Amino acid sequence: MEPGKEQIMLTTERLLFRQHTMADMDAFCAMEQDPEVRRYVGGKPRTREEAEHRFINDPLQPIDDRMAVWATILKSENRYIGRSGVYPHYKPDGEIIKNEGALSFYIAHEYWGNGFATEAGRAFIQFAFNQLKLKRIVAVVEVGNDASVHIIKKLGFTLVETECGPRSFYHFVLKNASDNPL
Ligand SMILES: CC(C)(COP(=O)(O)OP(=O)(O)OC[C@H]1O[C@@H](n2cnc3c(N)ncnc32)[C@H](O)[C@@H]1OP(=O)(O)O)[C@@H](O)C(=O)NCCC(=O)NCCS
Repeated sequence: MEPGKEQIMLTTERLLFRQHTMADMDAFCAMEQDPEVRRYVGGKPRTREEAEHRFINDPLQPIDDRMAVWATILKSENRYIGRSGVYPHYKPDGEIIKNEGALSFYIAHEYWGNGFATEAGRAFIQFAFNQLKLKRIVAVVEVGNDASVHIIKKLGFTLVETECGPRSFYHFVLKNASDNPL
């Protein structure tokens, strides 16, 4: 796809969310190769080769045109600074759970601490509840990822389970407040 012609999914005051394009590959790979970014998501950095493989083969592109992890662009610099979105929530057997989504955000290390993940998270929650009419959004955060836990709680999520293992994970849930069970 010609750069600049990608489908824009959503915008916020400082950010723009759009489909990934091949032009994003270097910035994507730099994040995947960064041990700080990978500390609580996979644990160790990927090699450039692994990162490229993931960029090309992973379902980064929208599944139903609306639920996916999107290229996150800092508008003032027209620069790829990460990826974020609400993507389908899968059961362990791979089946998609209807009316649910999973929130995700990754920001390049040099842009941490500017409120970008919070801004992205807030925008996607509003989108998921108001436009997609999802009933629940989940978030899985590795124990120790305190910045992410802080953001998830600030966004209103509730801790429902702690999964313990060699790597332990918190499971958070946010329900659609306007969802009437009757
Ligand atoms: C987690 C991550 C997305 C945060 O991105 P960010 O743009 O820096 O986040 P924000 O600036 O919006 O917010 C960070 C918040 O965490 C707080 N924080 C930072 N470090 C913290 C720590 N060690 N403990 C508790 N809170 C912390 C900040 O004070 C800020 O809160 P505030 O705005 O209320 O002051 C980013 O560090 C990242 O991409 N990490 C690697 C990938 C990852 O872990 N993704 C999440 C997977 S669940």
